[in-house]
Amino acid sequence: MELIKTDIRKMIIDILKLLEKEINVKNIKIENNIKEETFILCDIVYFEKALINIIKNAIAAVDEKNGKIIFECFEKKENNKKYFVLNIKDNGKGIDEETKERLFSLFYTSKKHGTGLGLVITKKIIELHNGAIDIFCDRGYTTVNIILERGE
Ligand SMILES: Nc1ncnc2c1ncn2[C@@H]1O[C@H](COP(=O)(O)OP(=O)(O)OP(=O)(O)O)[C@@H](O)[C@H]1O
Ligand SMILES: [Mg+2]
Repeated sequence: MELIKTDIRKMIIDILKLLEKEINVKNIKIENNIKEETFILCDIVYFEKALINIIKNAIAAVDEKNGKIIFECFEKKENNKKYFVLNIKDNGKGIDEETKERLFSLFYTSKKHGTGLGLVITKKIIELHNGAIDIFCDRGYTTVNIILERGE
C-alpha cells in the first residue's frame, strides 16, 4: 500500500475508457458529477481495482435500454473529522434482501461466470484505506457508498 494524492475524477475517467466497449455495447449513459480537481488519498493500483469491480457490477446490472451510471463525490464533516463520500449509482435490477445479506460473502455470485470475489476484494481494499463501504437500493437506484477519512 502506498497512499498518494489522487485525482478521483480522472481515475474514474480512465477506468471508463478501459471499460468503454462494455459501456457502449449496452448503450449506458454515464453521469460523472465529480468536480474537477477532487483529490483523495489512496493506493492507485488497489483503489482502481476496487472501482473497476464496482463499475463492472453496475454495467452488468443495468439493462440495454435505459442503463445509467452516476458518480458523485462530496466532503462530509462529522465530529470535527472530515470525510470523503464517493457514490456510484446505477439504475439496474437492484438487490433483493437475500442477495443483500450475501453481497460481501466469499464466492457469492448470481452470475453464470462470476467468481463472487469482486466485492470481497473491493471491501478489503476499502478497509485497507481505513474506509467503509455500503450498498443500498433506493428509488430505483442501487448505490455503492464509500466513505474515506480525509487526511490533511
Ligand atoms: N450494482 C449491483 N446491482 C445489482 N446486483 C449487484 C450489484 N453489485 C453486485 N451485485 C450482486 O452481488 C453479487 C456479488 O458481486 P461480486 O462483485 O462480489 O461478484 P460477481 O460480480 O458475481 O463476480 P465477479 O466480480 O467475481 O466477476 C453479484 O453476483 C450480484 O448478484
Ligand atoms: Mg463483480
